[in-house]
Amino acid sequence: MNAYFRGNRATLANTELLKRILQHKIGIDLSGYKNDFIRRRIHARMLTYGIRDINQYLNLLEKNSEEKRKFLEALDINVSQFFRDSFVWKIVREKVVRELIEHMVKRKVSIKIWSAGCAHGQEPYSIAMLIVDVCKELNVSPSVKIYATDIDGDALKKAKLGFYNHQEVKDIPYFLLKEYFQPGDGGYWVKDNIRNIISFRKHDLINDPPLLFVNTIFCRNVFIYFDRKNQNKVLSKFHQCLYRPAYLILGASENLWSEGGSMFEVIDNRAKIYRKKQV
Ligand SMILES: C[S@@+](CC[C@H](N)C(=O)[O-])C[C@H]1O[C@@H](n2cnc3c(N)ncnc32)[C@H](O)[C@@H]1O
Repeated sequence: MNAYFRGNRATLANTELLKRILQHKIGIDLSGYKNDFIRRRIHARMLTYGIRDINQYLNLLEKNSEEKRKFLEALDINVSQFFRDSFVWKIVREKVVRELIEHMVKRKVSIKIWSAGCAHGQEPYSIAMLIVDVCKELNVSPSVKIYATDIDGDALKKAKLGFYNHQEVKDIPYFLLKEYFQPGDGGYWVKDNIRNIISFRKHDLINDPPLLFVNTIFCRNVFIYFDRKNQNKVLSKFHQCLYRPAYLILGASENLWSEGGSMFEVIDNRAKIYRKKQV
């Protein structure tokens, strides 16, 4: 154990110390994550081994890479899906993507979308397919760039690879799978016309400055891990970097706090679509 932590024995109740130890051991900054969330997930992992002492579990986590993987899985940190919450994508198509494309085509400017917390890439690839599909329908071809970011370098490696097994592609409508994927050994490769729209990069939403001049941000199922202070911090950054039509799409189970309500107006409450208020 690192000298910093020597003499500081962790307890489940002292979640702040626990989070610092976890950062040291698994290299992910959990400081902005909700204490309850972290405590419940650790407790569940301890139960699977019948371990009662948190320090015993932390030692196991440090030495056993398989448990590190399972712990990250238990945090659900990288869980994603193509067209996750399919009802949301229908609304996004009608209320966001169409207007976004028409607005930008009219002004002859490029469309810039940010998929923040993109995990294994299913979200930015879903956005790209949707945009290309609607452009075909409207018979327009604007320049489109999707910036897909995540704090987790390993998740980004998989995202960049653009290969998904049969189970992972099961939520992609068949006509899109046929059009935008190439069958390969054990799964499917994303085709280059979709892949080339997306630029993947490492980025920490809490500690890094925001990207600049984006027209729409998807940040779905990321806020659930952040405490209120950090949610508001990230919302302010989004507010700062969004330009017209300035949509923000959160996860289906996420809400804006009242502070967020002063920066964004609701466009669709069920699909969690918001638009930047001009202040
Ligand atoms: C549950 S996944 C959501 C993936 C996708 N947006 C979706 O809804 O399917 C949450 C992602 O947020 C990323 N994440 C967590 N904290 C982050 C931070 N501070 N900055 C950037 N990404 C972060 C995780 O690494 C993970 O890949």
